Amino acid sequence: MIRIEKMTTKHVGRVIDLKVLPEQQRFVGPVVDILALVNAQIRPYIICDQDEIVGFFILDTVFSQSHDFADIHDLGLRKFFIDQAYQGKGFARQALQCLDDHLVEEYARYKHIFLTVNCLNTAAKACYEKAGFKDTQTLYEGGPSGPQHIMIKSF
Ligand SMILES: CC(C)(COP(=O)(O)OP(=O)(O)OC[C@H]1O[C@@H](n2cnc3c(N)ncnc32)[C@H](O)[C@@H]1OP(=O)(O)O)[C@@H](O)C(=O)NCCC(=O)NCCS
Repeated sequence: MIRIEKMTTKHVGRVIDLKVLPEQQRFVGPVVDILALVNAQIRPYIICDQDEIVGFFILDTVFSQSHDFADIHDLGLRKFFIDQAYQGKGFARQALQCLDDHLVEEYARYKHIFLTVNCLNTAAKACYEKAGFKDTQTLYEGGPSGPQHIMIKSF
């Protein structure tokens, strides 16, 4: 049973050890760089299967400050990944379902959640579409590894 949890300092050692496949690294970047983004507004979460940390993501409550297509009522989902050893088991799908409930419970003052996904990352795009994100049919050019689809979900 997958659940999501706010990450705290006690999780750092295990989160640092999370890895994606070599060909996926350009889509999320190194975990140490991801953790350097974190602050009170840019919030890290862990994805857990019982006692095991199997994935990670960030909820960005100030997403519009760095993405001009968003406004202050929009959250950003960033750096979402499942560790390479746990991919293909439905964990991303379950984590995104948990996220739906969490957004309603804790982020009621926001209306939408955005994400950007590299145009070459067809697996992740399919995963997000299955979780109810819609392709806005516009591209974000600000990513480090080429154009990205901008996707949105209301909650
Ligand atoms: C994308 C990612 C999060 C999917 O995680 P996962 O736990 O393996 O995904 P799930 O098993 O829950 O699968 C959910 C859906 O994703 C899609 N998917 C997942 N892996 C896929 C693959 N290798 N090829 C094609 N589609 C895939 C499928 O649509 C799948 O639904 P299905 O099982 O009904 O076919 C994972 O591959 C990952 O961490 N990738 C590297 C990091 C990354 O690219 N993150 C996105 C940044 S925007």
